[in-house]
Amino acid sequence: MPISDPEVKLEQAVAAVRAAGAAEPRVGVVLGSGLGAFVESLVAAVRVSYADIPHMPGTTVVGHAGALCVGTCGGLAVACLQGRAHLYEGHAPERVVFGVRLLARLGCAVVLLTNAAGGVRTSFRPGTLMLVTDHINLTGRSPLVGPNEDGLGPRFPDLTRAYDPELAELARKAAADLGIGLEAGVYAALLGPSYETPAEIGMLRLLGADAVGMSTVPEVIALRHMGVRVGAISCITNMAAGITGERLDHAEVERTARHARDAFVGLLAGWIRLMGEAGLAGGGGRTG
Ligand code: HPA
Repeated sequence: MPISDPEVKLEQAVAAVRAAGAAEPRVGVVLGSGLGAFVESLVAAVRVSYADIPHMPGTTVVGHAGALCVGTCGGLAVACLQGRAHLYEGHAPERVVFGVRLLARLGCAVVLLTNAAGGVRTSFRPGTLMLVTDHINLTGRSPLVGPNEDGLGPRFPDLTRAYDPELAELARKAAADLGIGLEAGVYAALLGPSYETPAEIGMLRLLGADAVGMSTVPEVIALRHMGVRVGAISCITNMAAGITGERLDHAEVERTARHARDAFVGLLAGWIRLMGEAGLAGGGGRTG
């Protein structure tokens, strides 16, 4: 089977990252708004700017640095995407997921996704950390629309356990070990970029959503398509529209994410350490 155009692009990106001297990662991490500080806990990190990775979309959002960092954490080689592309920036869905597909092709068997999200469940507070157990895709988009990329995965991937239950258990254990509160719930993804209306938040609650955001879901779909195990944590940076009556703004989202950052960084590091101990990231992803 001839190699497809998306796969050629991925190979070119992999070659650029390897040429920068990065170790082969086992675990990938995507860092959301205001959560980029995790890269400081990587040992011996190699940093590659997105501008130096062919086909990698740049980031236009304040709080997203735009670099891939590969280093060691908890005894495992970890690759972090510091900043992501969003559908609302106008990128085609396959460009939004280019970075996570690159993580998979670099060798990551597990990818942990993080995001800033609005709290839909009224018992949440700004700063609450929520393990994502499932999602509702309300973006109206999928990165898998179009001819199937057979070299990446099957036409109709299963999403019944999209958020890996074993990884979720390790996240709960890491949080308990560190004394960090960790809620669990369903993440609803909307296209954005406007925040939701109070009526939309009421609808999302009726639908069973606990948090709302504008990212992560396309990445999860693309990763499950490739057979990569996925874990995700939302940092609830604000109560969703209409809950407190306050207005929403991105500066507040970033501020709360920064306040939560020590707990967040500790939790991610503890999670990755437990993954290494459990041998969960040992097998290597589909490297093509
Ligand atoms: N809605 C959507 N996305 C978000 C929010 C929100 O309230 N907060 C952070 N990202």
